[in-house]
Amino acid sequence: MSTDTFTLTDNQTGASWTFPVVAGTQGPDAIDIRTLYAETGYLTLDPGFSSTASCASAITFIDGDKGILQYRGYDIRDLAEHATFLEVAYALLYGDLPNLEEKRKFEKDITHHTMVHEQIHSFFRGFRRDAHPMAVMCGVVGALSAFYHDSLDIRDSRQREISAHRLIAKIPTLAAMSLKYMLGQPFVYPRNDLNYAENFLRMCFSVPAEDYRASAAMARAMDKILILHADHEQNASTSTVRLAGSSQANPFACIASGIASLWGPAHGGANQAVLNMLQEIGHVKNISTFLAKAKDKDDPFRLMGFGHRVYKNYDPRAAVLKSSCDAVLDELGVADPLLDLARELERIALEDEYFIDRKLFPNVDFYSGIILKALGFPSEMFTVLFAVARTVGWISQWKEMVEQPDHRIGRPRQVYIGQTCRPVLPLAERPQRKPQAIRQQEG
Ligand code: SDX
Repeated sequence: MSTDTFTLTDNQTGASWTFPVVAGTQGPDAIDIRTLYAETGYLTLDPGFSSTASCASAITFIDGDKGILQYRGYDIRDLAEHATFLEVAYALLYGDLPNLEEKRKFEKDITHHTMVHEQIHSFFRGFRRDAHPMAVMCGVVGALSAFYHDSLDIRDSRQREISAHRLIAKIPTLAAMSLKYMLGQPFVYPRNDLNYAENFLRMCFSVPAEDYRASAAMARAMDKILILHADHEQNASTSTVRLAGSSQANPFACIASGIASLWGPAHGGANQAVLNMLQEIGHVKNISTFLAKAKDKDDPFRLMGFGHRVYKNYDPRAAVLKSSCDAVLDELGVADPLLDLARELERIALEDEYFIDRKLFPNVDFYSGIILKALGFPSEMFTVLFAVARTVGWISQWKEMVEQPDHRIGRPRQVYIGQTCRPVLPLAERPQRKPQAIRQQEG
């Protein structure tokens, strides 16, 4: 950590205060302002947290200007090419890629926790079959905490670890169950003789009438997609998990809160929204119309899968997914006109000054849906798959936070802009007004 300092001066009073500067191993330094309010009486205001570091973390590093993403110092491209998802999960959880002995033990630990309590099947029955699978996942993942009373003491490192293993192991099983429930097909139990991706794909696509074994190409494509989505520093859903965890809520409830946050179309829900958008565009001749809508401030439409709070360059995950599309679709023998449409849309957008000026590039969600569709998933499942992958990042970030000795409950402040103190008038003396609905319409 740096010994530099930063001095703030109040131009009205001339008073000044000095705060320490915290330097990480790479990336921007930070002014440590945790004593700012106590010393100055001032708060800082940063809606959206564009200039705020919520924590110090050793898990994931992003350089948004250069389009760099590293998990535990390993470049995402190298991990996608040379590691398996469970090796990446091990690195995110414990700090380094596993050696052969560590890998085998971790795979065995995870594999032997993939089943869920039989009673959990009943939770699904409460949903209508047309319930969005993310709604189902919010419910059933939160419900897991009702089944594991033996591993909810977050102060106990062994219970933290078993909770992490249970979540990493069971989230694919629950995700596959949410797909099966939506399709009206029977649940498929996990099998211990299959690897993580093969097991997940079989639970999704096997039926009693015909067993299913994923091809090596499909399993590898699935594994690579999980790696690319595993973690991404302090994004909205990870920050949600950390904030929930800061109150010492149990890890299952914290992961359920992350699933809820990921669902939003501005975040993980964008992958489903991209496919819907491409289908709505339909043909390259319509691209200019949709780009005009995306640029129109009066139109709420945004180009889904484009733009990012941190990346002001090409999202390296999108680059890997884009380059994988051809190979995966060829190996699966799938041709999808939406891929050509997506590529043309990207080409035109990246030549448009609106997107150039704002440094808007394709993000992880722009191409992922095309591969997931080729693997056989309905678009409603795309964000569920994102949640399957991100559970590893969420639980790793939760573990890092809980294990930091000085971690405290997260409790942001506000700038109050409402009414100042005023008397409660008797009902008969309160002013007459137009009905609320009319006032809202009038703005
Ligand atoms: C993910 O944080 C993470 O790391 C997230 C994630 C992860 O792995 O966890 O990477 C996953 O969520 C990826 C993002 C998926 N979302 C989308 O693809 C939805 C479309 N993108 C936008 O909604 C937007 O780009 C965000 C939400 C991703 C980022 O929003 P910001 O950082 O708040 O940016 P902004 O809204 O302030 O935009 C800056 C300007 C604005 O124009 P001006 O007011 O300056 O004129 O860029 C414009 C925006 O209108 N803009 C877009 C746009 N994204 C930003 N205009 C059209 N289409 C877009 N997609």
